[in-house]
Formats: sequence, C-alpha cells, structure tokens
Amino acid sequence: MMLSLIVALGADNSIGKGGDLLWRLPGDLKRFKETTTGHSIIMGKKTFLSLPKGALPHRRNIVVSTTLSPQEGVEVYTSLEKALEAVKGEDEVFIIGGAMLYETTLPYADRLYLTRVSASFPDADTYFPEIDFTEWCPKHQTTFQKDERNAYQTVLTIYDRIPYFKKK
Ligand SMILES: NC(=O)c1ccc[n+]([C@@H]2O[C@H](COP(=O)([O-])OP(=O)(O)OC[C@H]3O[C@@H](n4cnc5c(N)ncnc54)[C@H](OP(=O)(O)O)[C@@H]3O)[C@@H](O)[C@H]2O)c1
Repeated sequence: MMLSLIVALGADNSIGKGGDLLWRLPGDLKRFKETTTGHSIIMGKKTFLSLPKGALPHRRNIVVSTTLSPQEGVEVYTSLEKALEAVKGEDEVFIIGGAMLYETTLPYADRLYLTRVSASFPDADTYFPEIDFTEWCPKHQTTFQKDERNAYQTVLTIYDRIPYFKKK
C-alpha cells in the first residue's frame, strides 16, 4: 500500500485557522477531489468536523478519533494503527489532515501531494510539520496562476520518498 499525504500549505507551512482553511481555492479543491476520488481518505476529528457536508462522496471516509460518535458514511477508528489496518491491501491511501495526523504519518509516508500557496498567513493557528526535502524526490510540478476565483498562485508538487529515508 502506498501512503500518501495531501495538503495545501502557505509559504510559512500554515494549513488552518479556527478549525477551517485559510483560503478559498476552488481549483485546488477540484484537484484534491480528482486525486482522492475512488480511494480511502484518513483524517482527524477536527478535519472531519470542518467538512461542510460531512463525508466526502465517492471515497472511503475514515476518521481517527477517540471521541467522535458513529456518523453516516464514515468509519471511526480510535487509533491510526487500527485505521491503517482497515485499509491494508489497498493501492493508495490518502492522509488528508489535519496537523496531528500529518505529524504522525509523515515519517511513514511514501508520497506527498503538496500545494504551496504563494503567501504567508500570520494569523494561522495550525501548521504542517517541517519537511526534510533531502528525503524526497520531486516527480511532477505544475504552477497555477491566481485568477478571479483563486486568490493566490499555487504550485502543486508531487514528491516520492527516497526509500532509504522511510521509517519502517
Ligand atoms: N490546508 C490543508 O490542506 C488542510 C487539510 C486538513 C486540515 N486542515 C486544517 O487543519 C486544522 C485541523 O487540524 P488539527 O491538527 O487541529 O486537527 P485534526 O488532526 O484534524 O484532528 C485532531 C483530532 O483527531 C484525533 N486524532 C488525530 N490524530 C490522532 C491519532 N494519531 N490518534 C488518535 N486520535 C487522533 C483526535 O481526536 P479525539 O480527541 O476525538 O481523539 C484529535 O483531537 C483545521 O484548521 C483544518 O481546516 C488543513
């Protein structure tokens, strides 16, 4: 199984504020949907609660939480280990946030889908962990210019882990 992290982050590694995102970038959300559809997505409780319509369609929604009660369209596991056990054997599984889950899974991840938003967000309260880019090989990069619907330029880079650096 390939474990992939997918995230949009500011120039300062910011990812959220007050339980929500820091930007409205419909183009990036569309690419997120295209990338994750048909796969399992694993998220923390706060990220799940931030989804305006609950579970995301056409994906197996998995929440890691010790306190979330059973929800329509969602599997809840009390530990990351149990969640990963449940998706064993799948081809590619996505960790979609938030900071807590990114922090725990980054050392074990095989691939990163990293959208870099070309601004800093000083009022952020949630950050992606530091990435040691010497451990990662960029495979593909696309720049998306800002436009009337997307307020910031973004750069999507897909990185594959150099296997030597993967934590077993
Ligand atoms: N920019 C992006 O791409 C992106 C993506 C996702 C989220 N976000 C933002 O990130 C923020 C949320 O992140 P967050 O770090 O505050 O919360 P989070 O990781 O979404 O949720 C934290 C909660 O999930 C459960 N949890 C997480 N990891 C766990 C683990 N390893 N084992 C057991 N339980 C675990 C715990 O719930 P219990 O207390 O119930 O056990 C924990 O309190 C929001 O602002 C959101 O909008 C941004």
